[in-house]
Parts: sequence; structure tokens; C-alpha cells
Amino acid sequence: MSKGAILTDASSIPEVVQAMTLEEKARFVAGARAFETGPVDRLGIPAFVPADGHNGINFFQLLGNIIPKVLAKRGQSAGELRDPFRTMSDVGMAGIGNLLAGNLDPSNIESLSPENAAFLRDLSQAVQESLPEGGLPSCFPPGMVMGATWNPELVGECGRAVAKEAKAFGVDVLLGPNVNIHRDPLCGRAFESYSEDPYLASQTVIDYVKGVQGEGIAADVKHYAANNQEYMRQGIDEVIPERALREIYLPAFKAAVQEGGCWTVMSAYNKINGEDCALSKRLLTDILRGEWGFAGFVVSDWGAAYDRIQALNAGNDLEMPGPQNPQEVIDAVERGELGETTLDERVSNILGVLVKLPAFTGRERAAIDRAYSSQVARRVAVEGAVLLKNEDGALPIEEGSVIAVVGENAKNPIATGGGSAGVVSPYMVSLLEGLEARFGADAVRFGEIPANASCVVISVGVTSSEGSDRASLALADEDTALILETAETCRRRRIKTIVVLNVCGPVEMHGWIDEVDAVLIIWLGGMELGHAAAALLSGDENPSGKLPLTFPRRYQDTPSCLNFPGEFGRVVYGEGIYVGYRYLLKILGRTSFPRARIRVFANVT
Ligand code: BGC
Repeated sequence: MSKGAILTDASSIPEVVQAMTLEEKARFVAGARAFETGPVDRLGIPAFVPADGHNGINFFQLLGNIIPKVLAKRGQSAGELRDPFRTMSDVGMAGIGNLLAGNLDPSNIESLSPENAAFLRDLSQAVQESLPEGGLPSCFPPGMVMGATWNPELVGECGRAVAKEAKAFGVDVLLGPNVNIHRDPLCGRAFESYSEDPYLASQTVIDYVKGVQGEGIAADVKHYAANNQEYMRQGIDEVIPERALREIYLPAFKAAVQEGGCWTVMSAYNKINGEDCALSKRLLTDILRGEWGFAGFVVSDWGAAYDRIQALNAGNDLEMPGPQNPQEVIDAVERGELGETTLDERVSNILGVLVKLPAFTGRERAAIDRAYSSQVARRVAVEGAVLLKNEDGALPIEEGSVIAVVGENAKNPIATGGGSAGVVSPYMVSLLEGLEARFGADAVRFGEIPANASCVVISVGVTSSEGSDRASLALADEDTALILETAETCRRRRIKTIVVLNVCGPVEMHGWIDEVDAVLIIWLGGMELGHAAAALLSGDENPSGKLPLTFPRRYQDTPSCLNFPGEFGRVVYGEGIYVGYRYLLKILGRTSFPRARIRVFANVT
């Protein structure tokens, strides 16, 4: 063992790896906790923190790193409490929101045992201490909105803004961007990623990665590869023809590696043609490193390294989450099932990225620049919004109009979808607040259509989440009814009906679109949704977003519909390369919204 080895920069890595014991290496290739790796202090190797994600920091995940420190300070082990996360869920989501906001309501914790209540009080305090100046992270619009901007430069700016906040929160590796292709609009996570089109996804990811990494934070391009559904997400076998894999599902990853220069890639939960992605030498070594020249590290999706040794052999460098038992890796090396040089390579790959991260170069816990983040979040929401219909100049809404607003969604908007892309942000501007701020509170009437109303804005929402796919593309029945009833009233009164869709992706509109005058898709527009929507409805901003994926007239027009989400553990990509518009143009020769946008407003230059 070489003496005095210490991690100083990339050139010191070979010596440091040589100085590591087998046990240190075996520990190093897995996390130490859910969202943190372990240090090797004697060699100057610090721990680092990966966390989601693509459209803002998932602070909730960082709680998992704070909890053990609180327990240690209290001299308690997790075993003495109920599971800390279950203890937290005793106070419910609202309680957790309060915990994050630092105003843990005593009435919420009264029902808990004294130890659990004391733990939560200490946790709340530790959370406050760990928050950067400026508070909670910003919620930017998710990937589908970024894709809809067709503006890679702006997406790059968004990457920069998210990474600046990552630095403020002590996050080193941003678990995004998600570049999976929108194979089927029912996919529960489609809102997270850019497009059904590999070229748009590729052009968008390049700038995003550069934006993030320009701030010294690693982008983690996920989920490699073809993680296109949530049904049986851990282990579904995707039968994908080679041409579709190469032409549709891999290009965005290749662009992220070769043109974006991403430092890390996340191996996916699913199988491709019978092989688990995180255990696939073909994907992780032959294609990623061999063909594309990837030089960073591969981290497994959380729990995707179903066979740890096979994953290491295949080219998966870091297994998350941790901790894992290092003895299994030690035994595999001793039994000759895992070459020590292979293990050394895995460790070197991780160290090669680590020397570029704040954990190593030094953390600057700057304050959140909320004004900057808000402006970027708003810009993405504005440029991603798509005007699908605008008859007879229904939009923009004229100055001096009296605007009736209906639909609970106008008050309770959806900023982003659920799961790891969830972001608890410090504020959220609703459509109602946005309209009031733009037109004046007196000009905006919620829940009624006064006699002097000039138009009605109907706001409806649909969300989705990691963990399950959407059941259908329909709006909720009551929302469809609200649109139809309101449109009927508007027709009688000869005023315009404007629909704002706060949606996670395509919705079917055939039952109502002919009855309304204008449709604006604001998507899951992030925390600035209301300001962005108001700027577009008023004509202060020109709607310039374009659909990044096909809105089928009916779900049955989707090429994958007969093969989604599969059965008996398998899903066959029978449509081959004919994903989204490729199918519609080739087979049907038309799409519902061919140019994906309407004439720009005449009065906006
Ligand atoms: C998700 C990933 C995420 C990871 C860590 C997994 O369940 O699939 O997208 O980055 O969890 O939160």
C-alpha cells in the first residue's frame, strides 16, 4: 500500500485507488445513505450528495441525510423511534410542509409520543439550520415544458438556475435530466422528460447538461435506457427492435454524452430484450463507453442494481441507495467473480467525477437568488405554453375586460408531477393570482360569470406521478361538464370561452374543443405558472411553445396503444420507430394539431 496517498486532483486518483483497502473500495461503490455516499477520510475522499432533480431540488430527499445527524445528536438510534419517515408521516403532508417551513404546529405533534415529538422538534430545527438563505428550493417547470419551448438556450439557462440552487443546498449530483422518450402519453413520468422526438430531446438535453455542469454540478442523465412506463417499472422486459432502440430511444443519451459531455448517467430499472439495464454490459460498457466514449460514472437508479456483482461487472460504477453490505463485494473479489481491476475502474470512474464536485472543490453555500430563479422559471413557463386554438381573436384578452374565472384549478394549480420530480417550493402563483396581478383584482371574478363579463377563463388540471401510469387521457368528468356548461353560457351571452389546461401531458379534447374559442396549454408550469399564463392571456407575451409530443384525438390513435403497458412482465415495442407523429404522418397522413401552434397575436411585436 502506498503511504501518504491523498486525493488532490485527477492525477492523484491512480495512487489513491492503489492505497484503498479492498473494504474501502467495496464500500465506496455503494452509497452510505439514501442520498449520500460515504467518505474515506484518511485518503481525503469526501462524501458527496446526489439528489433530484431536473426541475428543482427535492429537499425532501435531503431530509434523509439530516435525520441520522439529528438522531446522533439526540443520542438515539433509529430503532428507538418508529421509523423516522413514518414518524414524519404521522404529522401528514401538511405537517411536513410546516416542518420544512419551520413552523411546526404544536397541535400537529401533540398526539405523538414524547420521543417522537421531541425528535420532530429537533428535526425541524435542523432543517431550518440546513436551509440556505432564501429558504426552500424553486420549482421550475418540468422537462415536458422545457421541451415545448423548443429553445435549448433557455433550457440551458434553466439548467444553470437549478444547479445554482443545487450548490446552495449542498447537492453535488443533480439526478436529471430525464431524457426518456414519450413512447406513450399515458406514461406516468412523461411530464418529466422532453419529447417523443429523439432529435428535439437530444438538442434540448445538450444545453441543459452544459448549463448544470457549467456551475460545477454533475448532471445525471436518466434513465438509461428506455424507461418509458411506470407499470411494473422495476423489471418490465421491454422487447425493442434494434432499429427503434438506436434511432428513437438512445440518441438523447448519446447526445448528452458526446455533445453535452455529461459526467454521470443513471442506469434504469427496466429490462431491454431480457437484460436488466443496470446489469447490461452491452448498454453500460459496449455502447456507453465503447461506442460513445463516456468517461464519467454510471449510478444505478435507486434499487436497480438487482445483482450487485453483475452490475459492477457490467459497468455500473455506483449503486444507490446505500448502505449495502461491503462483504458481498469483498467475497466476490476473493472468489474471482469480480476482478479487482474492475473494482478499481469503478472506483476511479467515481473519483474522476468527484474531484470536480463541490464536495471536493469546496462548498459555497450561497443564498438562493430567488429573483433569478423566478425569472427563469417564468420564462420557461411562458415559452413552453402552447396556444392550441384561438378563434376570432378570442385572445389576447383586451385591457379593461371583466374576466370571469371558473374551475378550482385556477386557485389550486399543479406546479409539477409527483414522485422524485416533486418540489416543495416557497410559493406558487395560481392562475387567479396571476390574472389579478395583471388585470387588477376588480377586473377578475372567481366562481361566477357577472353580467358585464367580457370572457370566461376555465382552468382545469390533470397530474400524474412516478409509480403509476395514467388511466386515460380524459379530463375528469366534472371538468368536461364544467367546460361544456360554461361554453353554453358564454354562447348565450356572446362572450368568449377560454380554456387553460394545467396538464401533465396530452388530454383528449374531441368532446369539447369545438365548443370553446381558445385553448392554452400551460402544462405543469412550475411555481410561476400564474404569472406566465396571465402574461400570455393578456398578450404581454407571445405564445411560442410547440407541442413536444403528439396529442392524439383519442388515446386509441396512439401507435403503442395495443402494446402498452404490456402483460406477463413484457411489453413489446410493436410500433418500432413509429412513435408519436412518425406514425400519424406515415399511417394516417395527418395530426390533430399539425403545426402545434396558431398564428401569433397580431398586436404583439
Ligand atoms: C427514480 C429516479 C430518481 C431516484 C432517486 C428513483 O425511484 O426512478 O428518477 O432519481 O429514485 O430519487
